[in-house]
Amino acid sequence: MADFSPELLAKVKDLWKRYPERKAALLPAMHLIQKERGGWFSPETIRDTAELFEVPDIHVQGIVGFYDMFHDEPVGRHVVRLCKTLSCKLRGADELRAHIKRTFGVDHGETTKDGAFTFRCFECLGHCTTAPMMLVDEERHENLTAEKVDRVLGGLR
Ligand code: FES
Repeated sequence: MADFSPELLAKVKDLWKRYPERKAALLPAMHLIQKERGGWFSPETIRDTAELFEVPDIHVQGIVGFYDMFHDEPVGRHVVRLCKTLSCKLRGADELRAHIKRTFGVDHGETTKDGAFTFRCFECLGHCTTAPMMLVDEERHENLTAEKVDRVLGGLR
């Protein structure tokens, strides 16, 4: 069996119990796998995942390619997702993006030189009433201002 930690395998087996077939647990399991394997799916991780779930490699590769939450190249220690959809846009998301570029030297898809974070612009993250907002890994930061962004992102270094 693929070289995953015993902790990860235990969690995946737990997931399998919740679904009628193994394959149905692939998406939630992939979040756990991505975390364990440094935040992205290398070709080896894709192979290992496919082996674990007894599906063709291309099945896992297709999921990695389709969903923005999965990465097919190395990312920084954290992933920052700034919402760019209408509510956030109307409340200053574009200005915040420009501010992040000026202050931290990264635009969409780029990683800071020190590897602290990868920055990505995202479609609606589901918290429009507290726009503009961003996610740092799984943590929400809402009603953003440039000062708040500096505090949060500066703290990742
Ligand atoms: S538009 Fe930004 S969270 Fe919905």
